[in-house]
Amino acid sequence: MTEESVLRHHDREVLVHAVAARLVARLVDLQRHGTVPSLALTGGSVATEVYAAVADSEAASAVDWGRVELWWGDERFVPAGDGDRNDGQARKALLDRVPLDPRRVHPMPAADGPTTDLDAAAESYARELREGGRDRFDLVLLGVGPDGHVASLFPGFPQLDVEHTIAVAVRDSPKPPPERISLTFPALERSDEVWFVAAGDEKADAVGRALDPATDPHEVPAARPRGARRTFWLLDEAAASRI
Ligand code: 6PG
Repeated sequence: MTEESVLRHHDREVLVHAVAARLVARLVDLQRHGTVPSLALTGGSVATEVYAAVADSEAASAVDWGRVELWWGDERFVPAGDGDRNDGQARKALLDRVPLDPRRVHPMPAADGPTTDLDAAAESYARELREGGRDRFDLVLLGVGPDGHVASLFPGFPQLDVEHTIAVAVRDSPKPPPERISLTFPALERSDEVWFVAAGDEKADAVGRALDPATDPHEVPAARPRGARRTFWLLDEAAASRI
C-alpha cells in the first residue's frame, strides 16, 4: 500500500523550485545507496520548468549524472527535431546541461526514426525497456492534464485497459499532436515512487477527483498510478483547491 502525501506550495514558482530540490535530493539519496536511479520523465510545461530549475540549482552537481538512467513516460510521435518532442524540451531545459551518459538516456522513437510505424515504434520501446534489465523505475514523474490525463493516457481511451504490454501507440490525442507513444498503467505502476506535479486552477478538478478513491480511472486516469512505496502530489495552492 503506497504512502500517499499531498504537498501544497504557495504558487507555481515555489512548486517548480521545491520539486527541483526534492528531485536532486532523491537522486543523491538513491545514489548514496549504490543505486543507478531509473527515472521516467514526463512532458508538459510544469515538468519542463522543473528540469530547468534543476539545471539552474547549485545542488545539481551533487548528482552523479553519469549514473542516472532516463526514460520517458510518453512522447509525441513527431520528427526528432520537432519542438513538440518531450525529449527535446527536456534536453534544452536540463539534459544538455548536465553530464549524462548518453547510453543511459532512452528517448522514445521519433516519427522520422528507423521505425516510422507508430505501433511498431511503441513495441520497440517496450522491448528496449524490457531488455533494459530494469523492469521497474525508482521514480515516475507525471504531469496532470485538465481532463485528468497522465502521460498520454486520456479519459475514455482504449489504452487505459491495456494490461499486457508496457508501451502503446496513441492516436487522435485530444492534446495535440495527435500521435503519441505512452507507457501503460502497468508500466507506470512498476515504480517505487510516483510524483504528480500540477499547477493552476485548471487542474484543480482533475486533482480533486484523482484523489477520491471512488473515482474511475477511465474517467480520470490520474486516479490510478501509485508508487509501490510512495506517491507524492506536488501541487500549487490553485491545483490543490478542490481537495
Ligand atoms: C505531454 C505530457 C502530458 C503533460 C500534461 C500536463 O506529452 O503532453 O506528458 O501528460 O504532462 O498534459 O502538462 P502541463 O504541465 O503543461 O499542464
